[in-house]
Amino acid sequence: MKIGSILENQKFEKRVAIMPEIVKKYISLGFEILLSKNYASHLGINDEEYLKVGAKISSDENEILNSSDIVVQLGILSDDKSSLIKENQILIGVLNPYENKKKLEDLAKKKINLFSLELLPRITRAQSMDILSSQANLAGYKAVVDSFASFEKAIPMMMTAAGTVPAAKVLVVGAGVAGLQAIATAKRMGAIVFATDVRMASKEQVESLGGKFLTVEGSENLETEGGYAKETSDEFKKKQEDLLSETLKKIDIVICTALIPGKKAPLIIKDNMISNLQSGSIIYDLAAIQGGNTAFTEVDNVINKNGVKIIGESNILNKLPISASSLYSKNMFNFVDNLFDKKNKKININLEDEIIKKTIIK
Ligand code: NAI
Repeated sequence: MKIGSILENQKFEKRVAIMPEIVKKYISLGFEILLSKNYASHLGINDEEYLKVGAKISSDENEILNSSDIVVQLGILSDDKSSLIKENQILIGVLNPYENKKKLEDLAKKKINLFSLELLPRITRAQSMDILSSQANLAGYKAVVDSFASFEKAIPMMMTAAGTVPAAKVLVVGAGVAGLQAIATAKRMGAIVFATDVRMASKEQVESLGGKFLTVEGSENLETEGGYAKETSDEFKKKQEDLLSETLKKIDIVICTALIPGKKAPLIIKDNMISNLQSGSIIYDLAAIQGGNTAFTEVDNVINKNGVKIIGESNILNKLPISASSLYSKNMFNFVDNLFDKKNKKININLEDEIIKKTIIK
C-alpha cells in the first residue's frame, strides 16, 4: 500500500504532512512512501534525507496522486489535483469542512474517503492525533514571542541602579489550548498575565499557570458537552465588554485566541475599547482568519490604531513550520495507524470507531 503527499501551495502553507523521522514508522507498518521532488526543501530538508529513510521521490505529482492508496496533506488540494483522486482512495488533511463544504461533498460523491483532522473528537484515545492541540499550542507560544518582539519595552520587571522597569501586563482572551500556552510563555518571560474565557473550567487552568482569571460576573458556564465554547448572549457580551474595557487600561499586550467551532470568531475587543490601551500596546489576534476578535483585525496585516498595533496573521504556524510539521506528521501517522488493521494488513474504515466516524466527511 502506498501513502503519497505532494507539495502544498507554499504561498499559504509551509508545513509538510510527512517529516523524515516518521517515514520509517510508515514503512514498518508496510506502507511505501511517495513524495514530490523537493517536498520539504523550503524547510532545509532535502530529498536525500527522505531517500535515506526509505521514501521514494517522484517529479510526477499526478502519478503520486493516482497511485497512492492514502494521500496525506495539510490543506485541501487544488481543483485540478483533487480531480486526480479516484474512488476508494483516501485523502486526509485539515480540509476545513466549514469553508469547503461544496467541494468536499463533490469529492465524497465520487466515493473518495475524506478525513478532516480538525473534526477529531477531544477524547483520550485521540490525543496523539489531535492536530488542533499540537498546532494551537505552538501558535499560542509564537504569538507571545512575536508580540514581545514587536513591543518596544522590556517584558520582565528589572530593578536597576537607574530605576525600575515595570513588568509588562498581558491579557489573554480565550484560555483554550493556544491561550494556555500563551499564558505559560508570557509568565516564563516575566509578564504579569490576565486571562478570560466563557468556560468556567478554564479558570482553574489559568490560575494553575499563574495567571489571574477575569470572571464575567453572574454569567453561566458557556461550555458545550464537547468542551467547546457556546455563543454568548447580548447580556454576557455587555458584561464582558465592561470588564475588559476597564482591564485594558492597564494592559500592554493582548493575545486573542477566542473561537467558536464552525462560526465566525466572536468580536470581543470593540472599536471603542481600543482607545483604552496605551499607545505602543500590541494586540496579536490569532483568530484573524476566522474574522478576528477585534474590530480592526486584518488578515496578514498590521493595523495601527492610535498607536496600538493590531497584528493578524493568517497562518502563524508558517513561522515555525519545522516544529509544526514535526508534530503534525506524528499526529497524522497516529491517525493512519488507527485506520490500519494490522492483523489483515489493510485499511479498515470502521465507522463504529468514534475517531473514524467523527472525522470522515460523507
Ligand atoms: P477553541 O480554539 O475552539 O477556542 C479557544 C478558546 O476561546 C476556548 O477556550 C473558548 O472557550 C474561548 N472562547 C470562545 N468564545 C469566547 C468569548 N466570547 N470570550 C472568551 N473566550 C471565548 O478551543 P480549544 O483551544 O480547541 O479548546 C477547546 C476545548 O477542548 C477546551 O475545553 C480544551 O480543554 C479541550 N481539549 C481537550 C482535549 C482532550 O481531552 N483530549 C485536548 C485539547 C483540548
